[in-house]
Amino acid sequence: MRDLFSEDPERFDAFHTRHEGLLFDYSKHCITEETKALLFDLTKACDIDGKREQMFSGAKINSTENRAALHTALRKPQSGALEVDGQDTTALIHDALKRIKAFSDKIRNGDTITDIVTIGIGGSVTGPEMVCEALKPFSKRDINIHFVSNIDGSHIAETLRNLKPKTTLFIVASKTFTTQETMTNAEMAKKWLTDSLGENAVNEHFVAITADDKKAKAFGIEPDHIFPLWDWVGGRYSLWSSIGLPICISIGFDNFRKLLDGAHSMDKHFQEAPLEHNIPVIMALLGIWHINFCSSHAHAILPYDQYLSRLPVYVRQLDMESNGKNTDREGHKIDYATSPVVFGEPGTIGQHAFYQMLHQGSEIIPCDFIIAAETQNPIGDHHQKLVANAIGQSQALMLGQSDNEPHKTFDGNRPSSTILLDRLDPYHLGMLLALYEHKIFVQGIIWNLNSFDQWGVELGKALAQKVLSILSKDNGKDLDSSTRGLIESIKAHEKT
Ligand code: F6P
Repeated sequence: MRDLFSEDPERFDAFHTRHEGLLFDYSKHCITEETKALLFDLTKACDIDGKREQMFSGAKINSTENRAALHTALRKPQSGALEVDGQDTTALIHDALKRIKAFSDKIRNGDTITDIVTIGIGGSVTGPEMVCEALKPFSKRDINIHFVSNIDGSHIAETLRNLKPKTTLFIVASKTFTTQETMTNAEMAKKWLTDSLGENAVNEHFVAITADDKKAKAFGIEPDHIFPLWDWVGGRYSLWSSIGLPICISIGFDNFRKLLDGAHSMDKHFQEAPLEHNIPVIMALLGIWHINFCSSHAHAILPYDQYLSRLPVYVRQLDMESNGKNTDREGHKIDYATSPVVFGEPGTIGQHAFYQMLHQGSEIIPCDFIIAAETQNPIGDHHQKLVANAIGQSQALMLGQSDNEPHKTFDGNRPSSTILLDRLDPYHLGMLLALYEHKIFVQGIIWNLNSFDQWGVELGKALAQKVLSILSKDNGKDLDSSTRGLIESIKAHEKT
């Protein structure tokens, strides 16, 4: 890369692009114009254009579940009908948005609810939790937003510790309304509420977001408080749907709409921009280059913005649950690498934790630096120092440094992209998140994967159920010795 920059001092010009207030700099990757052209050929060979149109038009591209993947429809302004299985998705989406607006306005304008506790796990909360944190400056500060996911009772116990039933609203977010963690926590929350306010309190203090309204009703939630989800929206792609209700309560519907508008703008860019300027396509191809041609198996998400502290966690699920697969769309085992291990921390905290490995480790780990040009908190010179650290790090990774002492030598030639947002507001955040969704989609097409199922989480769930039944009985004889040994040790502990 040092050579590439000295051969072409204006390299940045040819290796960056922009969509509205989002600049994408990919000059610090070891690629040339020839690499780019060959990677663009790959998108043609894999028919990215055709596959993209299938997704946007509601074709059932999630073949193992026979479902469409229509998260892009969720953020479209109201326009023509888009039918899936005889249902007009546009009408369903905009009807749900109206209900979300009315409900969130009611909570925000009332003075009875001070705490919103969203109970859910995985795709049903990871997006809202990340967005609520990212858009805190736009939030109504007198409403506290909490999320409870873990089956560990400590999570809900600590969350409820200082809350008052009278001023708490529970949102049970579960597409299936069967997930063990969510239902166990929801039952516990119901008990906490009704022990203090009586059975009828569920009517006013519980809402559900689900595709299974019968189960929500059976739980005791009244029909007006059940917000819809549909099987053509995957969990990790669902923050734009009713699942965004906690976001809407926190930042208000107008800001939620701006988030959708930003994502829609990135959708249009993905559909319409030529390859050389198409940011999700270029990002995807860079990933393919590093993973499949240069044998990198990890990817660091490094937001230099404290409000984006949960972005790495969000992208981790989006990427690893979508493309962490070793079977292709035709059901064959594949012999090439797919999703990288995704990790990250906000800068500069990560610098003092794992950047040692980024600079001098034996693995080359491509990084995404994410920076907002304007800060939400212009105090002192914090922002200047923050930005200086981000740019300094990407420069150090690229340039390296020679030294007579081997342990002080930095090889350099370590790749990174920089995403520069004008500012971190709902619109720009929407663009950023849709960018990652589409990057992952393009990679899934090139790897010939179904990015929209997640069978890999099922076996562990089933075995946990089996172990649970053994923990309460005495029939563990057929088990492997490790499982039996652990169960017996835990049971012995329970008896003491
Ligand atoms: O992690 C597996 C998964 O099925 C995700 O896809 C989903 O987002 C999450 O569990 C929660 O499922 P549900 O919304 O049905 O409770």
